Amino acid sequence: MTNLPADVLSRLWAHNQAHVLAGWDKLASSQRANLVAQLSAINFAELDQLIAKAKQVTQPAKSQQIEPLPVTPAVVTPHETQLGEDALRRGEVAALIVAGGQGSRLGFEKPKGMYPVGPVSGASLFQIHAEKLLALSRRYGKPIPFLVMTSPATDAETREYFLANNFFGLNEADVIFFQQGTMPAVCARTGRLLLEEPGNLALSPNGHGGTITALAERGVLTELQKRGVKHVYYFQVDNPLLKMCDAGFVGKHIATRSEASSKVVFKTKPEEKVGVFALLDGKCGMIEYSDLPQELATAREANGELRFRAGNPAIHLFAVDFLTRITSSGGLAFHIARKAVTHFDPETQAVVKPGTEPNALKFERFIFDALPLAERWLAVETSRAEEFSPLKNATGADSPETVRADQIALFSRWLEAAGVPTQEQPVEISPLFALDPEELKRQIPPKFAIGGPTYLK
Ligand code: UD1
Repeated sequence: MTNLPADVLSRLWAHNQAHVLAGWDKLASSQRANLVAQLSAINFAELDQLIAKAKQVTQPAKSQQIEPLPVTPAVVTPHETQLGEDALRRGEVAALIVAGGQGSRLGFEKPKGMYPVGPVSGASLFQIHAEKLLALSRRYGKPIPFLVMTSPATDAETREYFLANNFFGLNEADVIFFQQGTMPAVCARTGRLLLEEPGNLALSPNGHGGTITALAERGVLTELQKRGVKHVYYFQVDNPLLKMCDAGFVGKHIATRSEASSKVVFKTKPEEKVGVFALLDGKCGMIEYSDLPQELATAREANGELRFRAGNPAIHLFAVDFLTRITSSGGLAFHIARKAVTHFDPETQAVVKPGTEPNALKFERFIFDALPLAERWLAVETSRAEEFSPLKNATGADSPETVRADQIALFSRWLEAAGVPTQEQPVEISPLFALDPEELKRQIPPKFAIGGPTYLK
């Protein structure tokens, strides 16, 4: 039988959380071991501070100066391209995918990266991203480390999936999985830890901002430094149009000695569900779509363009030194969310269903809170049609249907530019065949014609 370590017990008493031990005698040995492991991982002092912060009577928000963010045009100079390509040839760039989320909004109960999104091939998001990296590492003659951030919900299945698919041709040593941390949910009224079921705390991933702390805690930052990696290309699992580690963007970032560079897609409608970059008290920052006041979302310039239109496709390039600096100062701050959580009360041994009001506090970090910490930053315009089509919903906007159509439209434009009419057939190009329109032109066999659905690989 697992016993309760004395230090865990004393911490529970000291932080007023000993209620979780009610019913301890009824727990099986494995449940006790699980609970002890979960409790041992909690930073109770930090949790106390967050609970206290949530309880403070909300002060009127300090008035913040919010201005549109200056955005660098997409055009890349030959010098910038050269700088980016040289960095890739020297192995100074790593790719980081945040893949802690499941496809629940899509009705897909697996890691989202396993979703078959290729319009002709049925290739998964993971396969498309991995093949881009393989193609790039062949192009530049240097492996690009692929950092795959998982969560407890996606970790085992993601690793098994890569293994079963032979890492999509990548060298196993260059695919580095690391798990993000979790945070416990607590009762919004009392601050007490909530249990999901007997012997199991209600834990959830600590947000994509937890990436930075996890990189340090899991030894990945040290590994990157050992490999001579200087820049980390951050992206979300859900966007198959991503232009992976593109040399022009890397070059701009290097040329300006930026610590954090971000791509920007311009919003065309106020209601688009993307975060918006803005200058917040003179620093580069982000306002999440759910927090953007209506009057700012709808404000327009004299020429009719939205005033706050710098949308966030969640593509960033971070200097490794910058990430190291953030981790050494404790990581990013937590956001507090009030949520309705069904839980198990160990004292009454009953399941508690929430009423209409949120009954729990959850804590999450957001990656874009890193941006205002950068001493030098850059926001670079990009084309939505070429680089951004996220998979979020089962139907409607940002659904499998739109994401497949956006891929077909992109590949059709590449083929037409190479002199191959697509006859309105669905077409898909594997990154291993061509990574861009220029490469496609070189690769396409003479007199090549499209006669039906086509997958070029
Ligand atoms: C996110 C951004 C939004 C941006 C949009 C672009 C936030 C809060 N908002 O919105 O500004 O315009 O993407 O598509 O992020 N993830 C983890 N661990 C976590 C939480 C999330 O790995 O703990 C990963 C998910 O797997 C996913 C990504 O982060 O790859 C984004 O999460 P998601 O919930 O889809 O964000 P959105 O609300 O769609």
